[in-house]
Amino acid sequence: MSDTYNIGLGNNDTDTRQKADSDFVSFWDDQAKNLSWFSPWEKTLDWNPPFARWFVGGTINASYNALDVNQDTKSQKAAILWEGENGDSRIITYGEMLTHVKKFSNVLKSLGVEKGDRVTLYLPMIPELPIAMLACARIGATHTVIFSGFSATSIRDRVDDSKSKVIVTADGGYRRGKIVKLKEVVDEAIEGFDFVKNVVIVERTKNEIIMNSKDKLWIDLMNDASENCPAEKLDSVHPLYILYTSGTTGKPKGVLHGTGGYLTHLYSTFKWAFDIKDTDVFFCTADIGWVTGHSYVVYAPLLHGATEIMYEGAPDFPDASRMWDILEKYKATIFYTTPTALRMFMKFGDDIPNSFDLSTLRLLGTVGEPINPEVWRWYYKTIGKEKCPIIDTWWQTETGGMLISPLPGLETIPLKPGSGTRPIPGVNITVVDEYGNDVEPNTKGYLVVKNPWPGMLLTLWDDDEKYKTVYWSKYENCYYPGDYALKDTDGYLWLLGRADDVLKVAGHRIGTAELESCIVSHDDVAESAVCGIPDELKGEVIIAFVVLKEGVDTETKVLEKEIVEKIRTDIGAIATPKQIYFVSKLPKTRSGKIMRRLLKAIGNNEKIGDVSTLEDGAAVTEVQTAFDEIQKSIKESN
Ligand code: WTA
Repeated sequence: MSDTYNIGLGNNDTDTRQKADSDFVSFWDDQAKNLSWFSPWEKTLDWNPPFARWFVGGTINASYNALDVNQDTKSQKAAILWEGENGDSRIITYGEMLTHVKKFSNVLKSLGVEKGDRVTLYLPMIPELPIAMLACARIGATHTVIFSGFSATSIRDRVDDSKSKVIVTADGGYRRGKIVKLKEVVDEAIEGFDFVKNVVIVERTKNEIIMNSKDKLWIDLMNDASENCPAEKLDSVHPLYILYTSGTTGKPKGVLHGTGGYLTHLYSTFKWAFDIKDTDVFFCTADIGWVTGHSYVVYAPLLHGATEIMYEGAPDFPDASRMWDILEKYKATIFYTTPTALRMFMKFGDDIPNSFDLSTLRLLGTVGEPINPEVWRWYYKTIGKEKCPIIDTWWQTETGGMLISPLPGLETIPLKPGSGTRPIPGVNITVVDEYGNDVEPNTKGYLVVKNPWPGMLLTLWDDDEKYKTVYWSKYENCYYPGDYALKDTDGYLWLLGRADDVLKVAGHRIGTAELESCIVSHDDVAESAVCGIPDELKGEVIIAFVVLKEGVDTETKVLEKEIVEKIRTDIGAIATPKQIYFVSKLPKTRSGKIMRRLLKAIGNNEKIGDVSTLEDGAAVTEVQTAFDEIQKSIKESN
């Protein structure tokens, strides 16, 4: 039995769940009315499995709902309290945000961007990023944001896939006091891409850049732009953005989100989960390059006219007190971060947070990976001073917004450290076995979603077939997220990590297949397998097993360096393995499947005993032999 914490905010709305349980379609229909629509929808849900279209026939605009609707009462209210890594700061009001967005919308138009075109945004965490996203949304262009830690090759693949007409980037971005030269990366990424018509550059770091014929400075374009730009009336299902994310196969997939359904989901979950009030100061530490930043830094807070903090840099720069310093400085009331960040803060000890005034905090949240109960308790006690509920929110790039979370803005539910508690209203989630049958309480199974929900992805960009196979083929008419879970006897859900070959390193999603194909593209490598092993700080770290081609006699130290370099340039530093093992062959079952659990056991320094029963399709002796062989070859080569 785990400990429970009876802490809430006093809200007790039972009506909402009741309505949702009786008819989820009409429930979401009501929720959608919280937004401003140009024209109403004719049909709430068009469910043509596995394709869901919400609020069909309605017209809406995301930028209008984030900014225009807030002008009457909040034009002077701070939308973004921006804190630069180097100590710069900016406050941008709702009124100013709208002006910037309208101007940049006109800039995009002047560069030939039209409704339906894609625009790639490769920017650091500066206000120009949400401004550019909302400007795209305003004119009906589909934005595709690429995390600014990704390499030139990663950008190239994504820009090529989305065929973006314009790229918006910066001269550089600050990371741990150093300048990351983003514009240089873009130059390399788009070489020879005629379909890219222009590159717009924000000057953030003022490092020297070479201006090519396609390049234009943000500031010059904005100076000339008109402040008048009405929001386009877009179909509810109009594609708002593509966000690439790693899956089990090959290259990252372009998750495509629509407008009306996505915004409805965000509006409601932000209210229920964070209990947002006009006086709140909200701080989500996610980078906008990931989905948490899209949904809960950009769209959800602005839809509510909230004031939020946006921080540019590393959470522990220049030292471990940076987050607490920001929370104190801006009198933050809500803090939403990752278990990886919390594990790091916890390691630095209590004295640092204790020396700051965190008394304004009233609600805490986590996202992105399972949170260890001891970290949860530390967060509750040391940061929340035993007065703030913690919401452990489970969701994915594909789900658009939270699907499982305590909802203090709606109801009070005893919290259990490490559990996301229950699904949000209007979403039917359960845990099933291999055959799709509900498992008994306290039994590990696969999480599935049994009905469509408004934030659900429309499809995978340009690949309906893959969309069907990846998410909808394991169980009939059920969405399969690829996570293990269990439900306890109180009906609480516990998320137990990925059930597929997707890794979560410091909360970042990395596909094993993508990484393996990158390693194999090194000239001397014949074969490779990667897997994740538990890590105290990052939740999970990567280890790689590499088989070299016959006759390669380069020193492994040199090869290791080259392989790491290759990963950094092809994917990005986040995918760097903690350890590379050179082995003579990979352990495989007779049917040719790599024995990944065996590899994990080796990485974890575990004994083989338990693994042999876990590798499907392999006999105990087979696993033992493979284990001995691989241990021997590691010893010989390292
Ligand atoms: C994992 C991040 C446990 C899960 C928003 C999921 C979690 C993947 C939690 C999606 C949580 C996310 N507890 N695991 N509260 N939240 N995950 O697309 O494995 O980057 O499938 O979206 O993160 O990662 P993504």
